[in-house]
Amino acid sequence: MAYFEWADDMVIDNGPIDDDHRKLVQQVNALHSATSQGRGQDMVAHLLASVIADTQEHLRREEHLMEVAKFPDLERHKQGHVQFVEKLHDLQQKHQSGSITVASQLSTLLRDWLSLHIRRGDKGLQRFLQLQRFLQQQQQRRPAVK
Ligand SMILES: [Fe+2]
Ligand SMILES: [Fe+2]
Repeated sequence: MAYFEWADDMVIDNGPIDDDHRKLVQQVNALHSATSQGRGQDMVAHLLASVIADTQEHLRREEHLMEVAKFPDLERHKQGHVQFVEKLHDLQQKHQSGSITVASQLSTLLRDWLSLHIRRGDKGLQRFLQLQRFLQQQQQRRPAVK
């Protein structure tokens, strides 16, 4: 069993947002299995850099989607994104200053944050988009007033 299992309740768009999330989940699992084999320290610098780049790209994509959809919780959601990227940068600095516990801290941070980020924050976007689609369909079905 993987350290962080992908689950159906994490599906948001059956598209690019899910692809980003899945890639991040894979990175968590790769880091965790390296750590449990004593290789975490070897890969953490490279993995941190790639997780930070992938996360920033993902968050930009998500925020753009939210802006286009006029998602009402956008500002609060963005703040959560900023705080998470700050935590990743903190870990990167810790690693650069010689800490040897960063690999396991990073696995835990990524798993816990991603799980909450997807299941609470991003699910709100999914429900909002569903509601928008439903309202549009209702409007299209309504007979034109003459
Ligand atoms: Fe996301
Ligand atoms: Fe998000």
